[in-house]
Amino acid sequence: MRKKIVAGNWKMNKTFAEGVELAREVNEYLRYKEGGEGVSVILGTPFIHLAKVAHNVTEPAIAVAAQNCATEKSGAYTGEISAEMVASTGAKHVILGHSERRNYYGETSEILVKKVARALENNLGIIFCVGEVLEERESGKHFEVVKAQLTEGLFNLSAEQFAHVVIAYEPVWAIGTGKTATPEQAQEMHAFIRSVVSTQYGQAVADETSILYGGSCNAKNADEIFSQPDVDGGLIGGASLKAADFFEIIKARARH
Ligand code: PGA
Repeated sequence: MRKKIVAGNWKMNKTFAEGVELAREVNEYLRYKEGGEGVSVILGTPFIHLAKVAHNVTEPAIAVAAQNCATEKSGAYTGEISAEMVASTGAKHVILGHSERRNYYGETSEILVKKVARALENNLGIIFCVGEVLEERESGKHFEVVKAQLTEGLFNLSAEQFAHVVIAYEPVWAIGTGKTATPEQAQEMHAFIRSVVSTQYGQAVADETSILYGGSCNAKNADEIFSQPDVDGGLIGGASLKAADFFEIIKARARH
C-alpha cells in the first residue's frame, strides 16, 4: 500500500534556532498528541538545519529532507551542496524540481535528471515536483505540461529506481497564493499522473507511487483535498511553519 505522507517545505524561512525549535515542536506533537498515526512526516529544512534537526527528531514517523542538491558529485563548485553531503547529515530525502527552483534558478529537466541521479546514488528518496503555471491551465495545456515534466525528468529511471520517487503535484498558480486547486482539480491531475506512471512502469508501480498535492494546502482545506482517492498526502509550504497548523494537516491526512 502506498504511503500517506505530509511533507513540510520550509523554503528560505527560519533561522537556525527557530528551525530547531519548530522541529522540536513537531516532534512533540507526534509524540504526545493523538491523531497523526500512520502518516510519514517529512521536514524539508534549509541545508544548514539538516544535521541538527535530523539528529534531534526522535519520532520514527519523522524524516528530514533537503530542498535541493547539486548536479555534480563533488569538487570545485563554490556554494553548492552535494547529495552526498545531504545524506551525510542524516537527511533521507531531497525535494527536486520545485517550481521556485525551475522558475527563479533556471532548473531545466536536463539539470533535474542529473540531480535525481546524484540523489539516488546516495540513497536519498526524491520528492519530485511538477505543475503548470496559470496560463498553461487556462489554455488547457496542464496535462501536457505535467506529462512532459515527468517524462523528461524521471522516465530515464528503472522501475527499481523509480520506487524511490514521490511525486508532488503543485500547480504554480496555487503556491503561496491562498488559491488552492479544488479537490476535483487535484484528483483529476493526480489520477492523470498515476495513469502516466502506469503507462511507463506498469499499474503495480503506479499503485505504489505516492502523489502529494501542494499549493496553499492548510489546516482548513486539507480534509477535502486528502479525501480524494489519488491524493496520498501534501507538500506544505506556509502552513508547515507553525507546528500546530502542520499537525492539523497531519491529522487530516491520518483521517482519510
Ligand atoms: P504553499 O507552498 O503551501 O505555501 O503554497 C507549497 C510549496 O511550494 O511546496
